[in-house]
Amino acid sequence: MCGIIGYVGKRNAQPILIQGLKRLEYRGYDSAGVALFNQGSSNAITIVKTAKDNLPNGVSPLISLAGKLKPDSAQIGIAHTRWATHGEPNETNAHPHVCNKHGIAVVHNGIIENYRALRKYLESKGHTMSTGTDSEVLAHLIGENFDAKEKDPLISAVQKTLAEIEGTYGMAVMMKGYDGIVAARNGSPLIIGLGDEELFISSDPGPINDHTKNIIRLDDFQVARIGPDGYHITNLDNDVFESKVEKITWDIKQIELSGYDHFMQKEIFQQPQTVQDAFRGRLGEKGVRLDGLDELGKVMPKISRIKLVACGTSWHASKIGKYLFENLAGIPAEVDYASEFRYAHPILDPAELVIVLSQSGETADTLEALRQAKKTNHTFGIVNAVGSLITRENDAGIYIHAGPEIGVASTKAFTGQVTCLYLMALQMGIERGVIDNYSVHKAELESLPGKIKEILDMDSNIKTIAENYAKNKNYLFLGRGINFPVALEGALKLKEISKIHAEGYPAAEMKHGPIALIDKNMPVVFVATGRDTLYEKVLSNMEEVKARKGKIIAVVNQGDERVRDLADHIIPVPTTSKWLAPLLNVIPLQLLAYHTAVIRGKNPDKPENLAKAVTVE
Ligand code: AGP
Ligand code: GLU
Repeated sequence: MCGIIGYVGKRNAQPILIQGLKRLEYRGYDSAGVALFNQGSSNAITIVKTAKDNLPNGVSPLISLAGKLKPDSAQIGIAHTRWATHGEPNETNAHPHVCNKHGIAVVHNGIIENYRALRKYLESKGHTMSTGTDSEVLAHLIGENFDAKEKDPLISAVQKTLAEIEGTYGMAVMMKGYDGIVAARNGSPLIIGLGDEELFISSDPGPINDHTKNIIRLDDFQVARIGPDGYHITNLDNDVFESKVEKITWDIKQIELSGYDHFMQKEIFQQPQTVQDAFRGRLGEKGVRLDGLDELGKVMPKISRIKLVACGTSWHASKIGKYLFENLAGIPAEVDYASEFRYAHPILDPAELVIVLSQSGETADTLEALRQAKKTNHTFGIVNAVGSLITRENDAGIYIHAGPEIGVASTKAFTGQVTCLYLMALQMGIERGVIDNYSVHKAELESLPGKIKEILDMDSNIKTIAENYAKNKNYLFLGRGINFPVALEGALKLKEISKIHAEGYPAAEMKHGPIALIDKNMPVVFVATGRDTLYEKVLSNMEEVKARKGKIIAVVNQGDERVRDLADHIIPVPTTSKWLAPLLNVIPLQLLAYHTAVIRGKNPDKPENLAKAVTVE
């Protein structure tokens, strides 16, 4: 999710806030805004906000927009960069959001999962919602919970509000006539910055690094007030906390990357959170809750086939989706490249749901394929970028909630897409009576973030393997069944960022050609988890490679002894269900590609000749 900064002090808040937002630009954003409290003559809160189209080169234009204020008049302010999760990324939906009942302005990072119910409640109390976002309910609910008789009415109103919401938040609140800022966090990081007679709220130390290195990191469910009297931290029950002050030693560059060397590396390591965010709020007691599926409503029972259409990494996720829909929901599924589908005049069954997958939601071939499909069939989108073109044109869809993916090579979006495909197939399986052990599936999915973390902890081992083969000219990636698309994804990651030629193949297909390439200079990555008949066959394929002196890198389950005599390098991953295995097995391949590229002196974030979104045909 995106970024927040707040200021209370003697200086003019405006330039401090805008400079702070500039330090948050690296997170990606689709809109931005600032609220400034003019304690002088008008005693009014001035708000300026705009969508990304007006901020082509960063958030600086907000300064001229905010210039409506007399420069020396605002000593209190909050500002926000948005990465939309609910509601188009346009000016209206940009933060801050206001409740005019008490002149309250709020900026929020995160997702309010019960916002629909809260909107209904607030409208019944006479509040008028003016945006399509989830966050707006916070402003109105604080207004509704405001009681002037309380010792600090704004803190109390925020505490009451947070007790009523479900979801994640990093948020900052200001109010006309109030001499400070109230902030709170649950799941979206937030810190207090301690300056010289001035205090800050920020998503991370970067935006305030020029002003102070002394910070306090808020914990979940903590509420903080910063004002001329200093800072004050409580929880929702108003218990007071004395928190440790931390001294920041990082430089700005590191802070933007949060200590990682590249965004791709950071995004690989974000994946426990990515999978969590993809299923957060969607795993009910009896089944999966997907708003997008509900939107299709009456259509779903009539769906008897699925067509998945995408490009690149999203196409690999779609290939995994085929296995999930066929094995978890009992629905035949086919996968097409969008660039082929759109020109192939495909014969679609009227009962065929066309699902398009896209991280950016802007890929030209996928968008055109969608436009073709929707002429005759119902369409569904699984997308990361909220409000992107594809999401405006499909009949319904779900967001993967992975947050901005800045590295050109897609990593966390892939795991977010596969998680969403799993959720969709699971729910369709329940509705079709194919799944009767939902709780088992739910528990295994909930264990995945921890299992991904275990694999990430093996990063240095994988880097060592990469060092062995960074000078090789070719790689082969092999897998069977649901591990075949994982092999394809591993090959794509390597070739697109390290410029080593790499091919993914079904392991059995090796003897129909690629085996001719095997020699001591050919590293072969086998994705060989699971203990089914396919596993036995993959071991035979390994024998064939070994017989030809190929170097074997094997991704296998922890405790796999049989591969010991065959593989030159073993990467043991935790066991999980066959259908969730791709979410684990892809991690070592992402790390292998990343380290290989770095060893070869490439910038993994900006691979030559590649764009993050291919909006050309
Ligand atoms: C993946 O690492 C590549 N950057 C590329 O193949 C990408 O997956 C493809 O262009 C599709 O992009 P989309 O998911 O944004 O539609
Ligand atoms: N869910 C909120 C919105 O869509 C906040 C998104 C963010 O974290 O930037 O506006």
